[in-house]
Amino acid sequence: MGRRILVTSALPYANGAIHLGHLLEHIQTDIWVRYQKLRGNQCIYVCADDTHGAGTMLKAEEEGVSPEVFIERIRKEHIEDFKGFLIEHDNFHTTHSEETRELSELIYNKLNDRGLIFIKKIERLYDPERQMFLADRFVKGQCPRCGSDDQYGDNCDLCGATYDATDLKNPRSLLSGATPELKASEHYFFDLAQYTDMLKSWTTSGAVQPEVANKLAEWLDSGLRAWDISRDAPYFGFLIPGTTDKYFYVWMDAPIGYMASFKHYIKSGNDLAFDDFWQVDSDAELHHFIGKDIVNFHALFWPAVLEGAGFRKPTRIHAHGFITVDGTKMSKSRGTFINAATYLEYLNPEYLRYYYATKLNGTIDDMDINFSDFVQRVNSDLVGKIVNIASRCAGFISKQFGGELAPALHDEALWQKFVDAKDSVANLYEAGDTSKAVREITALADLANQYIAQHEPWKTIKDPDKHSDVQLVCSQGINLFRSLAIYLQPILPAMAEAAERFLNVERFRWDDVDAPLLAHRINKYQPLFTRMDKKQVDKLIEASREDDVSGGETADEGEDAIISIEDFAKIHLKVAEIVAAETVDGADKLLRLTLDLGDEQRQVFAGIKSAYEADELVGRLAVIVANLAPREMRFGTSEGMVLAAGPGDADIFLLSPDAGAVPGMDIH
Ligand code: MSP
Ligand code: ZN
Repeated sequence: MGRRILVTSALPYANGAIHLGHLLEHIQTDIWVRYQKLRGNQCIYVCADDTHGAGTMLKAEEEGVSPEVFIERIRKEHIEDFKGFLIEHDNFHTTHSEETRELSELIYNKLNDRGLIFIKKIERLYDPERQMFLADRFVKGQCPRCGSDDQYGDNCDLCGATYDATDLKNPRSLLSGATPELKASEHYFFDLAQYTDMLKSWTTSGAVQPEVANKLAEWLDSGLRAWDISRDAPYFGFLIPGTTDKYFYVWMDAPIGYMASFKHYIKSGNDLAFDDFWQVDSDAELHHFIGKDIVNFHALFWPAVLEGAGFRKPTRIHAHGFITVDGTKMSKSRGTFINAATYLEYLNPEYLRYYYATKLNGTIDDMDINFSDFVQRVNSDLVGKIVNIASRCAGFISKQFGGELAPALHDEALWQKFVDAKDSVANLYEAGDTSKAVREITALADLANQYIAQHEPWKTIKDPDKHSDVQLVCSQGINLFRSLAIYLQPILPAMAEAAERFLNVERFRWDDVDAPLLAHRINKYQPLFTRMDKKQVDKLIEASREDDVSGGETADEGEDAIISIEDFAKIHLKVAEIVAAETVDGADKLLRLTLDLGDEQRQVFAGIKSAYEADELVGRLAVIVANLAPREMRFGTSEGMVLAAGPGDADIFLLSPDAGAVPGMDIH
């Protein structure tokens, strides 16, 4: 009997549109699911919108509708977006459902019965004007460590410190601008630490990728704290049983949404037993696909909650990295914050499915989208190599041979190579290394193209004695194409469907690659795939830029607004020589630099310690923003800023002028 597998993607928040980042995850999951189905395994893919929290409540309020109306509108949009990208969710539910409520209460009651829940009074920031407690991202203030301003309630952008919102200096509410007050209230906690040993063995059992296990080990070794699972009214969510004003924290009921969506799927007329998949000794598999930012929720809290409530734990967590565009975070002003719906107005969804497949390798490394690379990959691989095989051979078969394929293979050895790739491609799909799978498949396509080029059917056809050779060669070509289309079906389901029609066959199955189509009638060839037009990409980027202006959404972090030349002229850049560099006690990321600007010396704290040894910097020239307002930090005053490129950590690259520049020169 085949495997029974339940699969999920992380539940998108019901507060905005589906974008390229979400799509990476759903495309990755969908490829894996389609591969399982192609193999004949029973595989069910469920998802839902993540609807709860103060954020939803506030957004709905802004739009002047109830949260229920708001989230249902978003859910419909999300479903359309995913359909557009050929994502085949078996069910797309909502966490604001009866199933989630029932299961959350059931799980909570079980945890409570086992003594895993306790109540503790804690102090949190409270907005006296809005009369509500403030989530971390609704407060800003000064970092308690380095003193930099405008930092959110959880961690500092500048020095990397993590802290509690109550530690912020001069906090202000982003909802009202009011100064928050400290207010005590009772919170419900889940005693996570009791599961430390279980989690240590589970996280090292192969259930998570090795690099994720390492990260988790840091948390596990430094000791787990109890997890705060309640939020005070007003909140959009479900009440904790036995209370009238305490709600489940959104991250408590969100993963329960996976179970709930599955339950709703069964209710909607599918003959499956819930317990078969969720009971402790279930032999069905449970796979969660998530981004690396939410690993702690899925690989610490969630398995512990499941264990505590008497359910099975996940079989595997598949974490992926983040999408960047041209090396930087998606940006609305640059037009690289691209929504699913906008993309679909300009480009074929399979272009993106294919491009993502060439990037995904089963690790948590970030993936960069580069648009010229995107166009080039799609056109040269898909159109130039793969579809080309079919289009080169099809005409001869239909015109000269009445659509009939030859009764035998022409090159058995070549055919066998395509069959032999089967297990290796299968293993790569299973491991989520579609990048390598695609490389193997396109390498086979190269062989097929070489074969056709070598036998030149377009020349042979002119020689009446060799007529039947043409049928043999083109039939071989079409059979090779068929294998490629089967191997690529999880990535390119629409192309595969068109290939099925062309080949006049039933739905592909994985094992179809074992035997060729012989003496079989195929249909007339219709183009299976069209070239990608760079102009469409430009239009997409332009339209995404407009989205920002008309949508007026708040900019994401790292967002840059367009500035005028006058604004730019206000920035005074100068060449400086680093005459001294030293580490700073109590700051993980900072180096204290002494800079010579020709006629003066300055002290600047730079967050470049992760990439440079202090000593190697001495004597180097750097570029400094000379007229930046001095900033008081815990370690002293920073009098300017040195410029560097790169995403951070080890990848920070200090900018230096070409040889010949001297300290103090102006940069224009
Ligand atoms: N609602 C939570 C998940 C709850 S799961 C029980 C959430 N939602 S989210 O909308 O912010 O993100 C959904 C998924 O999309 C996450 O797995 C996240 O990592 C992924 N991505 C969001 N932006 C992304 C990129 N730029 N790149 C790749 N994936 C990213 O978190
Ligand atoms: Zn700081």
